[in-house]
Amino acid sequence: MRVHDLPTPALIIDANVMASNLAIMADTLPGPRLRPHVKAHKMTALASQQVEQGHRGFTCATPAEVLGLAEASLGDDILLANETVDAQRLSAMARCKGNVTVAVDSPETIAAAASCGIEQVVIDVAVGLARCGVEPADAGRLAELASASHLTVRGVMGYEGHLVALPDEHERREKVAESMELLLAAHRDVGGDLISAGGTGTYAVNTAATEIQAGSYVLMDSAYGGLTDLPFAQALFVDATVISVAKKWAVADAGLKALAMDHGDSHTESGSTWFFSDEHLTYGPNKPTNVGDRIRIVPAHIDPTIAKHPYASLVDGDEVVEQWPIDLRYW
Ligand SMILES: Cc1ncc(COP(=O)(O)O)c(C=O)c1O
Repeated sequence: MRVHDLPTPALIIDANVMASNLAIMADTLPGPRLRPHVKAHKMTALASQQVEQGHRGFTCATPAEVLGLAEASLGDDILLANETVDAQRLSAMARCKGNVTVAVDSPETIAAAASCGIEQVVIDVAVGLARCGVEPADAGRLAELASASHLTVRGVMGYEGHLVALPDEHERREKVAESMELLLAAHRDVGGDLISAGGTGTYAVNTAATEIQAGSYVLMDSAYGGLTDLPFAQALFVDATVISVAKKWAVADAGLKALAMDHGDSHTESGSTWFFSDEHLTYGPNKPTNVGDRIRIVPAHIDPTIAKHPYASLVDGDEVVEQWPIDLRYW
């Protein structure tokens, strides 16, 4: 099949760029130094490629991602780097054939994990992002409670998400070091082998973590594309068809339901973005444009863009070489 024959909006992966991103990361953070975050791509097929690169542990944001990886026999060491008190989902993760660890940051999440048969936890520590995580000074007490609840405490995690997109590399490095002081202090009280942190923007500057949880690096988006020190290239696109042409603008058939815009507008090299609506991109074309032409759009935020699509088409130039289901969607 040719790329032009795909129905649009079409989620496109440049297979060669993806392979290069995978290799660059595996070279810098080999094997267990990287615990790839699958929430970025939500595809067991892509997770298999990461296993082929030597990364046998995964980071997940949802129980559905955990269960899907385990079902696909990619379950050597799966970390749910997120809190849940959902008894049904915790029990399903406890029963699945993967080796599962879940993050806890409160007596409630510890009690829920223990009562549903989960065996391993990490203490999630607040390192500056206003999201989950216990205050560093309380991490040791929480670890004691987890141990008393017959849970194995494998260590700590703390995601410095407020720093991953800082444009200046030097400032990013300094602020990450400060943030990781909080995680290391908590780890001194908690113990365990794991100090899990980091993302695509900090994979090279976070020297405190024993493992990095980067996900976006494999396909990238325009938000991370703004960090000039990152060696990863754009591998993810959404192709659209021009469905209407006016004197000053053209309209393509990919809008808010095909592209996530929480990190700003997606863009196209075919012209300047005017605005997106539900199913449309209105743009000012930079060359003569006809109804039926194809344009390629660069997503601004990879994770929620991919989650809107049922499958991705891997392309090599004009040829579609494979199609991968987005089989780790939903919760
Ligand atoms: C817990 C956690 N770890 C790591 C990451 C890093 O992912 P990425 O490399 O896609 O920025 C995220 C992203 O939001 C996250 O939520």
